[in-house]
Amino acid sequence: MADTLATIRARRSVRKFKPDMIPADVLDQVLEAGTWAPTGMGRQSPVILCVTDKAVRDELARMNREIMIEIGMGVKLGMDPFYGAPVVCVVLADAQAPTGRDDGNLVIENMMLAATDLGLGSCYIYRAKEEFERPEGKEILKKAGIEGDYVGVGHVILGYADMSPKAAPRKEGYIYRL
Ligand SMILES: Cc1cc2nc3c(=O)[nH]c(=O)nc-3n(C[C@H](O)[C@H](O)[C@H](O)COP(=O)(O)O)c2cc1C
Repeated sequence: MADTLATIRARRSVRKFKPDMIPADVLDQVLEAGTWAPTGMGRQSPVILCVTDKAVRDELARMNREIMIEIGMGVKLGMDPFYGAPVVCVVLADAQAPTGRDDGNLVIENMMLAATDLGLGSCYIYRAKEEFERPEGKEILKKAGIEGDYVGVGHVILGYADMSPKAAPRKEGYIYRL
């Protein structure tokens, strides 16, 4: 338990990455960790699209930035919503699964904790739903061989941290007991 809690505490959002690519065997462990997440009724409703191809990664970043602007978030010209991370994993869930989004979010946390244990930085990035409602997003899924009706849950960006993230103190009154 000491190790688990230490990993959970150590996982903090990284928002500045070195350009170095993650070795395939390390990345495989992060992906495998995602697949062991609990899912409603054991349906394993999510899929993980792991993007290491720079052109596809940059296309996702472009879409994500455009969506930020569309929903009225203040965005600096050309900002990278993936903070320079060389790997972007998208977690999507079967649109028919009643627990799809919940399943997907558990996959994401498993991946981020595994990444921490492996010495990688990570951050959850939102707006995957809107990204994969777009024709360009659907085209990327098709290219990856993902068929069927999938809803974007979120992104896990991965790479080697170029910053030391600080944790906010935990709020008062987080836990109640009876
Ligand atoms: C559902 C969800 C969506 C998030 N979306 C983004 C995002 O789009 N961009 C970002 O920089 N961080 C995003 N984050 C990261 C949070 O901002 C971060 O977890 C929070 O500030 C707490 O910091 P910590 O992860 O270091 O504890 C998201 C986190 C969650 C859980």
